Amino acid sequence: MAKEKKKITQELGVNDQTPREIVAELDKYIVGQDEAKKSVAIALRNRWRSHKLPDEMRDDVIPKNILMIGSTGVGKTEIARRLARLVKAPFIKVEATKFTEVGYVGRDVESIIRDLAQTAVRMVRKQRTEEVKEKAAANAIERLLDVLVPEPKRSQNPLGKLFGNAEVDAPPPEEEDTSKKHGREFIRKRLLAGKMEEQVIELEVADHAKPMVGMFSGSSLEGMGDNLQDMVSSLMPKRMRKRKVTVATARKILEQEEAEKLIDMEEVSETAVELAERSGIVFLDEIDKVAVKGSSSGPDVSREGVQRDILPIVEGSTVMTKYGPVKTDYILFIAAGAFHTAKPSDLIPELQGRFPIRVELKSLLKADFEKILTEPQNALLKQYKALLQTEGLELEFQADAIEHIAELAEHVNEQSEDIGARRLHTLLEKLLEQISFEAPDMVKDGKTEVVIDAAYVDERLKDIAKNKDLSQFIL
Ligand SMILES: Nc1ncnc2c1ncn2[C@@H]1O[C@H](COP(=O)(O)OP(=O)(O)OP(=O)(O)O)[C@@H](O)[C@H]1O
Ligand SMILES: [Mg+2]
Repeated sequence: MAKEKKKITQELGVNDQTPREIVAELDKYIVGQDEAKKSVAIALRNRWRSHKLPDEMRDDVIPKNILMIGSTGVGKTEIARRLARLVKAPFIKVEATKFTEVGYVGRDVESIIRDLAQTAVRMVRKQRTEEVKEKAAANAIERLLDVLVPEPKRSQNPLGKLFGNAEVDAPPPEEEDTSKKHGREFIRKRLLAGKMEEQVIELEVADHAKPMVGMFSGSSLEGMGDNLQDMVSSLMPKRMRKRKVTVATARKILEQEEAEKLIDMEEVSETAVELAERSGIVFLDEIDKVAVKGSSSGPDVSREGVQRDILPIVEGSTVMTKYGPVKTDYILFIAAGAFHTAKPSDLIPELQGRFPIRVELKSLLKADFEKILTEPQNALLKQYKALLQTEGLELEFQADAIEHIAELAEHVNEQSEDIGARRLHTLLEKLLEQISFEAPDMVKDGKTEVVIDAAYVDERLKDIAKNKDLSQFIL
């Protein structure tokens, strides 16, 4: 058993991509910021390395947490988002601002670990479902057949017996069996050949609606509330209800039910907790928002409190979850913040010390903007093009237009506030406002192509971009 668990942790929890491959993957979506990509990739690879170590040494290798620093809109959250899809480990991203000190109303930081465990459970369950898929499908077919070819009711008529004509009512046992079998086999063939998918049958399904939910929601004992809710709903008899569904839908429902029966949820919980402990990654976004200089009163007290609450989790402690206690020692934490007003040194010292790797994300300039507009998969311009294509309108951006947009983005960021690549969104919205509005009419009038050149960009944006007061409001 223990051996099997290891195996799954290996294949679920750890990427075997090399740092270079991870960076290449991130490169598809994020322009520049090589340093941040690199350190994230190294951290992931270190996970892989430590899994290869002998047990007694592995226990001493704790992950080196990362602090990403960079002004707003330069790709911090975007890196986290892409990373989440890349890693095969349980990954969650949370905003530090969401939490309040224990004792205040709001989420307590331990819920981060509870959520991580939940994510891990979902992953392991998915994997297990995959493993029992064939068996579940076969069982589902049998149950479908039970519905489609019901057991013929034996004559229970007491009067029949009384008058001694029972044999007339029911065929002799062997004969009945073979005919039923024929019926069942016949239907099975049709079913497997997919000839009955559209047929509507009546299926008895468990009613998943939980009438008691309202009672516990909003409870401040959050984790507790979850457990109670589960307890209550497992205590209540499962309500069944009849639903009319097609065979195709019924099969899906039954496959799911059968898979659930085949999966050992206790084993899933155990494996998941181990997975979360060994491979979990927590992305703590907006960490700068809970950093404060000096100790003052008011809301700041609570912010410093949040840091103090985060500390034991980052440092290594044990959090109770409904799947069991989760040790946080080996969870990798990546924190990110703009640190516009606060500095990393404004974090409480103990917390600073727990993020030994610092990476800075660079401010974005014209050349970056040009690439962001065009290069990433689903880059902004590709998005706008695709959107207008649905109207039947082909949008073409000339190179000089793209360059000009990038230039304006840099300019506006300089003279008002630097909001990084988000500036491109505001600029493009403004630039394409008119076309967006008129597109259906244009197509109706036979105009199916629009070329955007530098002159058009100038015409739509120059005045606003050059006028500081205007751009502050509009862009
Ligand atoms: N380097 C980049 N390459 C490609 N797209 C980027 C880059 N930087 C930012 N973007 C885009 O800009 C938008 C905002 O970026 P993101 O959410 O990562 O900002 P952030 O650094 O987390 O800022 P904040 O500090 O405000 O949270 C996203 O749509 C993202 O795709
Ligand atoms: Mg962000």
